[in-house]
Amino acid sequence: MKLELLEAQAHSTLAGASSSAQLAEAVTAVLGKRSPLALAHRELGALDPEGRRQAGRELHELRERLESLASARAAEIAAAERQAMLDADRLDLTEETSVASPIARGRLHLVTQTRRALEDVFVGMGFSVAEGPEAETDWYNFEALNIPPAHPARSMWDTFYLDLGQPESVVLRTHTSPVQVHLMEDTAPPIHAVIPGRCYRRETADARHLAVFHQVEGLVVDHDISFADLAGTIETFTNAYFGTDIHSRLRPAYFPFTEPSAEVEITCTICRGAGCRTCSGTGWIELAGCGMVDPAVFEAVGIDPTEWSGFAFGFGIDRCAQMRHGIADMRWLTENDVRFLRQF
Ligand code: PHE
Repeated sequence: MKLELLEAQAHSTLAGASSSAQLAEAVTAVLGKRSPLALAHRELGALDPEGRRQAGRELHELRERLESLASARAAEIAAAERQAMLDADRLDLTEETSVASPIARGRLHLVTQTRRALEDVFVGMGFSVAEGPEAETDWYNFEALNIPPAHPARSMWDTFYLDLGQPESVVLRTHTSPVQVHLMEDTAPPIHAVIPGRCYRRETADARHLAVFHQVEGLVVDHDISFADLAGTIETFTNAYFGTDIHSRLRPAYFPFTEPSAEVEITCTICRGAGCRTCSGTGWIELAGCGMVDPAVFEAVGIDPTEWSGFAFGFGIDRCAQMRHGIADMRWLTENDVRFLRQF
């Protein structure tokens, strides 16, 4: 066979391959043991020495050209196959799921939304946001807060004790107040901080109590802080979060770690003060405990009570969500009924 013809056929065979599998076949057909090229090699034996040398060189050069053509084609095919794979794999990150889409979008739980909104209000008032652990030692949850062992005030909260160390030495915090102690141990005054977080009490769930609930603690330690500063802060907060039409009141109360102490109540937003099941017919809902930091607490954390004074408060976040959105029963927050959750 004429070499020009052989070369032209080989070219079209290699060019016709469009996948790596087809190319492997084409290479065998063009350069393999049974290819026209191999056949031509075998025919060299019939030539005289001079003709054999000449034809042998031509065949060798042709083989080299075909081999480099095959490897160029292999590179082209590999690139095309990789591109096709990338195209097929492409993720469209701009894709929107519409309301009608069967894939519904989730949202933040109302308690999380409320926690963030409360943080925003307090940050706007100049507080920073801090955090603390949910499992505490007896010292942080009780003792440093002026609640010694066997003190009757311990029964203010029904505590979950953890099976860790000495009996009744580690608890799931019953309030966020222990973070007051952490903050005062770790930071030199002045302190202006709010601390949101989860709390636990052995409580039977009802319209306004959950065994796992959330509080946002507030702590201010500075020079010459008075009860008027506390009352003003509570008032400013109530108006900023619930609106200027919602009334709040402070009622004398007792907490071992504040003196004097008060309970913050606001008009029940479910019945607007008329009395209902949610507020047990009183027209008021307790939202927070508060008071002036007891000097005994300052002494427990090594802050000089003759130099520094301060106030603290603890709001129920779930309670705030309940009153802000008119949720008659707090248990709905944890029942995970999407028809309820979707509203917020
Ligand atoms: N820790 C108290 C509670 O959970 C609330 C409180 C916080 C009271 C700060 C006074 C000061 O009931």
